[in-house]
Amino acid sequence: MSQSFCFDVLIIGSGAAGLTLALSLPDHLQVAVISKESLDAGSTRWAQGGVAAVLDADDSVDAHVQDTLIAGAGLCHEPSVRFTVENSTDAIQWLIDIGVPFTQDKPDHFHLTREGGHSARRIIHAADATGHAISATLLARAQEKENLQLMQNHIAIDLITHEKLGVEGHGCVGAYFLNNTTGDVDVITAHAVVLATGGASKVYLYTSNPDGASGDGIAMAWRAGCRVANMEFNQFHPTCLYHPQAGSFLISEAVRGEGGKLLLPDGSRFMDNFDPRGELAPRDIVARAIDHEMKRLGADCLFLDISHKPAAFIREHFPTIYERCLELGIDITREPIPVVPAAHYTCGGVVTDTSGRTDIENLYAIGETACTGLHGANRLASNSLLECLVFARSAAQHITGNTDFDAPFPQAPAWDASQVIDSDEDVVISHNWDELRRFMWDYVGIVRTSKRLLRARHRVQLLRQEIQEFYSNYRVSHDLLELRNLVDVADVIIRSALLRKESRGLHFSRDYPEPLPRAFDTVLTPKYLKELGEL
Ligand code: FAD
Ligand code: SIN
Repeated sequence: MSQSFCFDVLIIGSGAAGLTLALSLPDHLQVAVISKESLDAGSTRWAQGGVAAVLDADDSVDAHVQDTLIAGAGLCHEPSVRFTVENSTDAIQWLIDIGVPFTQDKPDHFHLTREGGHSARRIIHAADATGHAISATLLARAQEKENLQLMQNHIAIDLITHEKLGVEGHGCVGAYFLNNTTGDVDVITAHAVVLATGGASKVYLYTSNPDGASGDGIAMAWRAGCRVANMEFNQFHPTCLYHPQAGSFLISEAVRGEGGKLLLPDGSRFMDNFDPRGELAPRDIVARAIDHEMKRLGADCLFLDISHKPAAFIREHFPTIYERCLELGIDITREPIPVVPAAHYTCGGVVTDTSGRTDIENLYAIGETACTGLHGANRLASNSLLECLVFARSAAQHITGNTDFDAPFPQAPAWDASQVIDSDEDVVISHNWDELRRFMWDYVGIVRTSKRLLRARHRVQLLRQEIQEFYSNYRVSHDLLELRNLVDVADVIIRSALLRKESRGLHFSRDYPEPLPRAFDTVLTPKYLKELGEL
């Protein structure tokens, strides 16, 4: 039977962003933290390299800001970058205080590694499984708190807003959730609602992300009327393991940071031909160089070699990567690792300010779901977890200080399933999942052309219609909800890519290979597109 719940704060997402926010709220507030799968299902658990922050006496806020601005290719919002970096040391100290076991190189001294685009060693990490350490610690602390209700296997379907309810106001009052255990749709209302649902890299056929990265928060906010920005900037990580049984497995950029070299199949190096920073150039440049060489040579993959380093060093710094590769028959202490680029990170998202506020009152977006202006046209390595921490903490402050928790709980009607029936053709869902992700990879990938983008636009429009029809007629399911979100996200990615008549950062168009003299954000406003009859 469908249930309804009321909370002071509803947090959709239990990754680094959602849990940090939950732990930063005062104990007297009743808070729900919801995950559509298990509580550690998002990208956070898979993060490898670490968290970038100003932690060394030889480093500085200005240097970290500068590196972020350079990677962002002229599109970062400097105040947002500065805000993030200035709060980086405190955010890391908070993680240390709650017990994250970062790697030390001597007693009371944390080892800092290096990644592409960073002018200093500033990545604090837990060997090569930083995300696992952060996720496990945040979850352990959250489970100790009585005011936090952690709910798994509930997938948010749509936000409930005053506008949707047809009542006065411009706020968000909650969301509908499909309870995957009972199959019912529950309603949760709250004084403040937070989207911390992660990114959308699953929109591409090949990705480093876990299965749930279907851009649900971005799609829900978009459908509810929020602006989304810079969705054309999809970051492809240069080095994912290429092996038929590997699934999505990342080979951390820290491998290059610690001296790993990229090689062609004949064993020769090539990165110096593309950028004087070689293997440590920003990610967009390295991914494009690998894509170029693979296409030029007709190669299935290229190689990343760290075997010149002592075996003990490799095993100590990269135990997870070493073990996983060894399971697949690759001994990285003796041979190069086959690698390919794969979709990794969504730089754009729901437009927010530095408190995580969106265009809708009481609705916040944090972490990979949000577009805060930090990443510009290309995210600097290891700035993502930092953004999750810093913006979650500032959103918690804003929610605490600006929400009327004494007001009566908002009300919302139960989900109406009277007009829908059980689907007898789920093949439509699986077929459309595959089709969408394949054409996004082929037509909206690392190198784009206007012609391919137009082809993609045509296909996404057909798919949207088909999926909308399916959604209106059949009972909702987990896969259908993710597909509905993916198609909305694909649509905004393609629209944004078509609007950008230049190449900048992660968006490279063969038809417009140069950057324009002035950088501008691509901001899509659903209200205007509806008025134009485009949605
Ligand atoms: P996530 O951790 O992705 O969590 C999303 C949460 O939302 C999950 O709980 C999910 O179940 C829930 N959710 C989603 N949709 C719904 C819905 N509809 N209803 C209910 N719940 C929902 N960044 C770095 O800074 N450093 C690194 O070293 C690094 N390494 C990475 C390695 C890999 C392999 C990957 C994939 C990413 C890496 N990143 C790294 C990026 C970084 O991990 C992510 O950007 C970050 O963890 C995102 O955190 P988040 O809290 O925003 O979302
Ligand atoms: C990595 O370890 O290469 C991932 C780092 C990141 O995505 O920031």
